[in-house]
Amino acid sequence: MHFSVGLSLCLLGFALVSLFPQPARGQALYEGRGACAEVDSDTEAVAGVGFKLGCISCKRRTEVIATATVEWYFRGKGEADFFHIYSYNEDGATVESDNFVGRVDWNGSKRSNDIQDASIYLLNVTFNDSGTYQCFFNRILAYDNYDYTTVISKVVKLTVVAKATRGTASIVSEFMMYFTVIGLQVWLLIEMIYCYRKISAHGEEALREAANAEYLAIATEGKDNCGGVQVGE
Ligand SMILES: *[C@@H]1O[C@H](CO)[C@@H](O)[C@H](O)[C@H]1NC(C)=O
Ligand SMILES: *[C@@H]1O[C@H](CO)[C@@H](O)[C@H](O)[C@H]1NC(C)=O
Ligand SMILES: *[C@@H]1O[C@H](CO)[C@@H](O)[C@H](O)[C@H]1NC(C)=O
Repeated sequence: MHFSVGLSLCLLGFALVSLFPQPARGQALYEGRGACAEVDSDTEAVAGVGFKLGCISCKRRTEVIATATVEWYFRGKGEADFFHIYSYNEDGATVESDNFVGRVDWNGSKRSNDIQDASIYLLNVTFNDSGTYQCFFNRILAYDNYDYTTVISKVVKLTVVAKATRGTASIVSEFMMYFTVIGLQVWLLIEMIYCYRKISAHGEEALREAANAEYLAIATEGKDNCGGVQVGE
């Protein structure tokens, strides 16, 4: 039946459009309800504005209770050594380097010692912030009989630019994303119009049939009752 095919297509269209992810740029929206994904940090910051240095380490055994502390180190472009810039532990956040005082905010896991996101936010990035950042998770997994300590580290090589540049790949993929979303919506609209017309055509036909049937019924009854007036329901 055409009608039900149209209706199924409509429903499919709705489902697709609602399932389709909304375009989200750059940083992934990850920290929903305990779900964790190790998304790499962005590596290009724009001078004069803030930048989130991402660092995520997911716990492999989610059922094991863990606590973690975090350290960040930085080595400026052309410098030989790393120096300690930031710590986050049970005492809270500490900026460890004069160069970063008042310029770093915690952007990681909130209200938990079981830190899996150790991202920090650099305010007002300068060209001197170019270089290599390294974050360390010191994680203690509390098993029944013993504690297990791991150290996980991630590296972010940051480039500071005067203005945001975007790779062609990201422009193309964003364009495709909008194109697909708009395409799906246009399709959905067409389907809705199609369905609506099907439904109303169907409805009219049904009405007409009902009216005919009633007319016939009245006519026959009228004959039987020799002209007595009958009122339909
Ligand atoms: C990160 O920290 C900055 C500065 O405190 C804040 O503006 C921003 O909303 C934070 N972002 C997240 C995802 O917590
Ligand atoms: C950002 O830093 C530059 C150089 O250190 C300074 O001149 C400027 O006022 C700062 N901007 C903000 C909004 O803090
Ligand atoms: C960047 O570093 C140079 C050399 O270390 C220093 O002279 C300059 O003041 C720094 N600029 C900022 C904005 O911190």
